[in-house]
Amino acid sequence: MKTNKLPIVQLRELILEDVEDRYQWCLDKELTEHLNMPKKYPPFSREETRNWIEMCMNKTNGYEQKAILTEEGKHIGWVDLKNIDKLNKHAELGIAIGDKNYWGKGFGLAAMKEMLLWGFNELELNKIWLRVEVDNEKAIKSYQRAGYIEEGILRQDRLRNGEFVDRLRMSILKKDFFK
Ligand SMILES: CC(C)(COP(=O)(O)OP(=O)(O)OC[C@H]1O[C@@H](n2cnc3c(N)ncnc32)[C@H](O)[C@@H]1OP(=O)(O)O)[C@@H](O)C(=O)NCCC(=O)NCCS
Repeated sequence: MKTNKLPIVQLRELILEDVEDRYQWCLDKELTEHLNMPKKYPPFSREETRNWIEMCMNKTNGYEQKAILTEEGKHIGWVDLKNIDKLNKHAELGIAIGDKNYWGKGFGLAAMKEMLLWGFNELELNKIWLRVEVDNEKAIKSYQRAGYIEEGILRQDRLRNGEFVDRLRMSILKKDFFK
């Protein structure tokens, strides 16, 4: 990962107190524009948000989703691994810095690095991949900086506001992350 000194972040398991932040963040259309969410506003009610967080806490939805905290303990976003393929040792990553005051300062990269470390070391994965909409330039730049390589284009992979958009599939291998 080619970066200057990154801010310090911590990842922790989700708790019910995260519901309100998550609900509020998802009211922001700029944040959710490129996230895989239903076409309604708000995308999730408080109750739906709570149900989701409970499923993550109880590990009943196949997600390993964690809260991103600053060094001071402020809750600023989430990062997850899903589609965990234990046989082939890979999983799909998703990330959002929900508090926009923390965009463009290296917090996404710092959280990415922590999740990659956890996925490669604790889940013993060999590859971590993701899908990103081709017009999500900010995210693509961040992933390239983290060392992700393009695997190819997934054609018309997301139905966004009634229109199909292509997604780029990118991945990082364990051997390259630790190089
Ligand atoms: C994608 C997302 C997670 C990236 O998070 P981020 O914290 O903004 O991104 P980064 O950590 O890569 O920050 C990089 C920026 O911080 C700057 N920066 C400041 N200090 C830095 C440091 N120490 N190290 C690296 N970059 C630093 C970089 O110069 C860069 O700025 P630039 O984009 O103007 O060149 C965030 O924009 C987001 O949540 N977007 C909405 C949800 C979303 O689209 N998720 C992805 C779906 S696939």
